[in-house]
Amino acid sequence: MTGKYVVRTFGCQMNEHDSERISGLLQNDGMEAVDDDSEADVIVLNTCCIRENADNKLYGTLGHLKTWKAAREGRQIVVAGCLSQKDKDGVQKRAPWVDVVMGTHNVHRTAELVRESRVHGPITEIYDEAVNDDHVLFPSALPARRETTYNAWVTIQIGCDNTCAYCIVPAVRGKEISRPLDDIEREVAELAANGVTEVTLLGQNVNSYGRDLSLAERREGADVRPSPRFAELLRRVGAVEGIRRVRYTSPHPKDMRIDVLEAMAQTPAVCEHLHYPLQSGSDRVLSLMHRGYTGARYLERLVDARRLMPDLAVTTDIIVGFPGETEDDFVRTLEVAAAADFDSTYTFIFSPREGTEAATMVESFVDPAVVADRFERLRTVVERSALLKHQARVGRTEEIVVEGPSKRDPSVFTGRTRQNKLVHFSPVSPLRAGTYASVEIVRAAPHFLQGELREVLAEPSHRIRIPVASA
Ligand code: 5AD
Ligand code: SF4
Repeated sequence: MTGKYVVRTFGCQMNEHDSERISGLLQNDGMEAVDDDSEADVIVLNTCCIRENADNKLYGTLGHLKTWKAAREGRQIVVAGCLSQKDKDGVQKRAPWVDVVMGTHNVHRTAELVRESRVHGPITEIYDEAVNDDHVLFPSALPARRETTYNAWVTIQIGCDNTCAYCIVPAVRGKEISRPLDDIEREVAELAANGVTEVTLLGQNVNSYGRDLSLAERREGADVRPSPRFAELLRRVGAVEGIRRVRYTSPHPKDMRIDVLEAMAQTPAVCEHLHYPLQSGSDRVLSLMHRGYTGARYLERLVDARRLMPDLAVTTDIIVGFPGETEDDFVRTLEVAAAADFDSTYTFIFSPREGTEAATMVESFVDPAVVADRFERLRTVVERSALLKHQARVGRTEEIVVEGPSKRDPSVFTGRTRQNKLVHFSPVSPLRAGTYASVEIVRAAPHFLQGELREVLAEPSHRIRIPVASA
């Protein structure tokens, strides 16, 4: 297939990962990636539906793209991802000029669908689940065109079996399926052989990774305990030669076990960073959310984590204004957040998602003005702790991996510490993305650190010369 394409990604890392596959499939089929919409023949929007403004944004973007499409014969618009999975044929009902609508389990079909719609016109194809003829379709097995050469996303699990009352993810990503450990290890080894030194393991609830695998082995007569295997996975991935950094997202506090924290602490490659979603500090709200832990239990685990990893950075997600949240509930969230002493917090305003339990709790929706006020109060608390955490790093020498020049000022480079902190620094001569270096931290702001380059520790050794790599 000839032509040029653009893939635009909305939402989470899982979508970024899938976009790399969408791009890899189109490129393998003969198409060329471009940055500019004006050059493109195909625009793919890989969508998110976790909050309402994501929906509004998509339909707004599709409005603009109608004009883009009309400007040149043969242009095509593809809508992929979670919003397609949720809205199904509703996407083409609202925007009939869309050529292909494909769901989260149809990524492997990208190139065929673009081709077919060139001949037959608009197509909507949504599979209900990732299992087809007893075969699980893990997008990781597809060819990828990755955006960076030194780090990579690796899916370890798809779907989610939890029932968090606010969350649409289980409806659009299906049931939880773990990818076999050997497969993951093989992919990581291949990535390392191609010069990747940092991997981020992806799943909706990584702590339960492997529970389904052990249950399946037991059903087949193996003498194994049905238990999660995430700790084992961390150790195995951390031992792959050439891998210097392992990250993962996201764990679930209800399933966080000490063996995972021990594996983190004992595996040198696993970074000292834990993204640990709190959602609320109030036990009453946590119970309404079906989160399966209390504020106290959450904090206890955090104490364990910091005892085992004294320099651990902890980040979190908090939802403000869940239906029925009272002032007392919110104050408890402030208290738990202050006690948790987060390095950074993603704060979200509750957004009712049709089809979730929380969306039906209309009579207890919180007044938007009250929610806005709480959002600001929470922001003050979490920004204060973020700044204090950053200030405590001033004067220290930290290892960073270089991301590249900053978009705004090419003389300023950005890098990431093992704690995932963004560091700005100005090297005398440019450094390649993927270089490991040490920097001294000289200044702190709430969302970044400023550093001075001390030493280059390791040059990148990318062996990827052609951008398409079979992952
Ligand atoms: N409203 C607001 N925030 C939400 N999140 C998930 N669903 C919703 C919703 N309906 C937040 C949670 C989750 C993060 C990825 O998005 O905090 O951890
Ligand atoms: Fe959503 Fe809860 Fe599953 Fe996370 S664990 S994806 S918040 S249902």
